[in-house]
Amino acid sequence: MSRTDLIQFGAMIHGVGGTTDGWRHPDVDPSASTNAAFYRQKAQTAERGLFSFAFIADGLFISEKSIPHFLNRFEPITILSALAASTTHLGLIGTFSTSFTEPFTIARQLMSLDHISGGRAGWNLVTSPQAGAARNHSKESLPDHSRRYAIAQEHVDVVRGLWNSWEEDAFVRNKETGQFFDPDKLHRLYHKGEYFQVEGPLNIGRSKQGEPVVFQAGSSETGRSFAARNADAVFTHSNSLEETKAFYDDVKKRAADYGRDASKLRIFPGISPIIAGSQEEAEAKYQEFAELIPIENAVKYVARFFDDYDLSRFPLDEPFPDLGDIGKNAFQSTTDRIKRDAKARNLTLRQVAREAAFPRTLFIGTPEGVASLIETWFQAEAADGFIIQSDIPGTLEAFVDHVIPILQEKGLYRKSYPADTLRGNLGLDIPVCKPNPILSRN
Ligand SMILES: Cc1cc2nc3c(=O)[nH]c(=O)nc-3n(C[C@H](O)[C@H](O)[C@H](O)COP(=O)(O)O)c2cc1C
Repeated sequence: MSRTDLIQFGAMIHGVGGTTDGWRHPDVDPSASTNAAFYRQKAQTAERGLFSFAFIADGLFISEKSIPHFLNRFEPITILSALAASTTHLGLIGTFSTSFTEPFTIARQLMSLDHISGGRAGWNLVTSPQAGAARNHSKESLPDHSRRYAIAQEHVDVVRGLWNSWEEDAFVRNKETGQFFDPDKLHRLYHKGEYFQVEGPLNIGRSKQGEPVVFQAGSSETGRSFAARNADAVFTHSNSLEETKAFYDDVKKRAADYGRDASKLRIFPGISPIIAGSQEEAEAKYQEFAELIPIENAVKYVARFFDDYDLSRFPLDEPFPDLGDIGKNAFQSTTDRIKRDAKARNLTLRQVAREAAFPRTLFIGTPEGVASLIETWFQAEAADGFIIQSDIPGTLEAFVDHVIPILQEKGLYRKSYPADTLRGNLGLDIPVCKPNPILSRN
């Protein structure tokens, strides 16, 4: 059966990219991660392709072992504010951690971005997987995985509570009577919880889209339930159609179990298309890029998911070592997948490292081939849309110029923006102010 809704796209804008050595490619600007003009050009290309949003990933700890993009990059709210001024319809999503931010600050920054952009702001809510982030935020250690999600729950409740401080028509601004606001439409939170105490109200009112969109990235059991309960949209992996479809069905079912309309929870696997005039050319592009990465760097890359454990002590061409629970408190869903996959396919350390450092994407080939695979995933209900990751230079441009027109031709993609807010373009409802949602829930 054919779907009646349309495919959505987001663009991950990621400086010099997510690999250890991609910055060495002759066509990559090695300063891209701190080059505002680069971000502007990518955002405008995404907008030309009628994408719903740009997406900025982030982290809060680096070391000498980090990949180049992580070492030297923009803080999300700042670059998104700049992008707000150079785009008109593109949603602007930034990654912020519930483990290391104050809800009042995040609520205020995102609502400010929502006003600055005319209703296009979004929050990629993460719980932070890296132990070192604690040491940058006056804490001794990272709370354990389940506690991080408990903190996240209270955090997002407080943020949303603060976004409901002012009813839509609270600011009367009547110059004749001198009434600036209606005190009956101002609501304090008076929140006293296990992790946060926040009185409120927030010092900024509601935006054109009501309040920012909440994305979540995290795929463990706890992460899925958290997303199903709280998120407007989910960012996830795209390892295979089968796996992503199972994830999609599972999260949608959990959302329905929470009494939500599951169609309003949008699921976006991240994909890294490689597009060329022929399959062979696309494969050659992949090889050219993959060969930039020396095996030692690939091993270091995969070690990042395992708390930077020194994997170089293991032989490269023997089965992937048994690492027990190392990394489980960090990137839980990712380490589980790597271990499961290595065992099932009997992979060596070299193979695991190569695949992790620059995965051979499924979405590789001609524009027709890539468009057709996207259609298959969408119609199979494995995705409501995709976040396009584009480490190989020219990929976003090729996607917009060659894949988008095919999807439009097939009637699967829009020909103009349906709205000028992020919620409008994602097909999400604009929420009405619910004063003191936390208090009224108790
Ligand atoms: C697709 C995906 C993207 C993520 N992006 C980020 C990110 O940009 N920054 C970050 O700190 N964590 C990111 N995370 C990490 C999660 O927020 C979370 O801390 C981690 O995955 C552990 O949770 P989980 O076991 O539920 O997946 C991402 C996770 C996934 C699955």
